[in-house]
Amino acid sequence: MKTKLVKMDALPEAGEIIRAGGLVAFPTETVYGLGADAMNSEAAARIYQAKGRPSDNPLIVHIADMDQLDLVAREVPPLARKIMETFWPGPLTVILNKKDEVPDGTTGGLKTVAVRMPSHPDARALIRESGRVIAAPSANTSGRPSPTTALHVLEDMDGKIPMILDGGPVGIGIESTIVDMTGEIPMILRPGYITKEMLEEVAGEVRVDPAVSGRQMPEHVVAKAPGMKYRHYAPKGKLTLVEGDTDKVVDKISRLAKEKEREGFRVGIIATDETMDRYHTGIRKSIGSRENPDTVAAHLYGILRECDDLDLDYIYSESFFEKGLGNAIMNRMLKAAGYHLITV
Ligand code: TXA
Ligand code: MG
Repeated sequence: MKTKLVKMDALPEAGEIIRAGGLVAFPTETVYGLGADAMNSEAAARIYQAKGRPSDNPLIVHIADMDQLDLVAREVPPLARKIMETFWPGPLTVILNKKDEVPDGTTGGLKTVAVRMPSHPDARALIRESGRVIAAPSANTSGRPSPTTALHVLEDMDGKIPMILDGGPVGIGIESTIVDMTGEIPMILRPGYITKEMLEEVAGEVRVDPAVSGRQMPEHVVAKAPGMKYRHYAPKGKLTLVEGDTDKVVDKISRLAKEKEREGFRVGIIATDETMDRYHTGIRKSIGSRENPDTVAAHLYGILRECDDLDLDYIYSESFFEKGLGNAIMNRMLKAAGYHLITV
């Protein structure tokens, strides 16, 4: 199959592909998505095939308008509605009990459905143009970092899907926050740009699934979002995170990098704008500014992909354990590192 990389003027054709059960990759404010008609089982199956994704890992259904919610959700509790009214359109996915019409192929056989109304104008334009609700996981090959540019999508999906809509680099850079609203108390299943603190302001008490909040590989706890149990976002080289006092972190990373270079390996260092000049070994990349975690989130996946392009054997990275967005950043980095974290 030939993959067309096109701009938004190809929207009518994109809508036709979705209606015919085909796949279109498109930008959202978080990461690029790989879209298909959510109510069409065969279309959803094509997503799993293109990504090489395990079929028990359910998809997020994207809607453009509030009236599309009734197509997929059996009921919407008042607190869920309040949260949607506050954060939609935006980087928040809400788990609700599903309508029977939503096929098992989309929800991985679950009785619940994940719904999100993206704020990216191109995403909403595609949903409206197609006249469908669109199931879309991140548009990467399963196990690779999520795509934040159309070229990342092309790297993974070339020859596997008919069309990629190029809307430029995304704004946020990590996937939406997922909150389960089917229980008494909202439960965060995946941390993201909408933080626990932000949700609490609107919803009162909010819990975090223990499987996604720790610094250690969650053992004996089963992640409630099926996708969170897989080793995601992994670069090919061995990634180690170092946390602690900045001076000590810089020192430790420098020593580890020198050691591996001496042994003849290709070594990368993921630093920050503030510390970049303090490293003198390895291939150095700044992931963004500590003062502004948004920049770190925006560069994270792109840098992990660069580490692959550079064929690095070992990668050492600083850590970001601040509150708020730092939680989502570290959740993704720890997964990428297989929870390999050194404290100094
Ligand atoms: O920002 C995003 O959410 C992006 C863009 C494209 O919208 N999409 C995305 O999709 O990250 P994906 O498939 O990469 O991640 C979906 C996550 C998986 O961890 C999956 O297990 C979880 O959502 N999920 C989907 N439906 C669920 C459900 N009914 N209950 C619990 N978790 C669910
Ligand atoms: Mg994904």
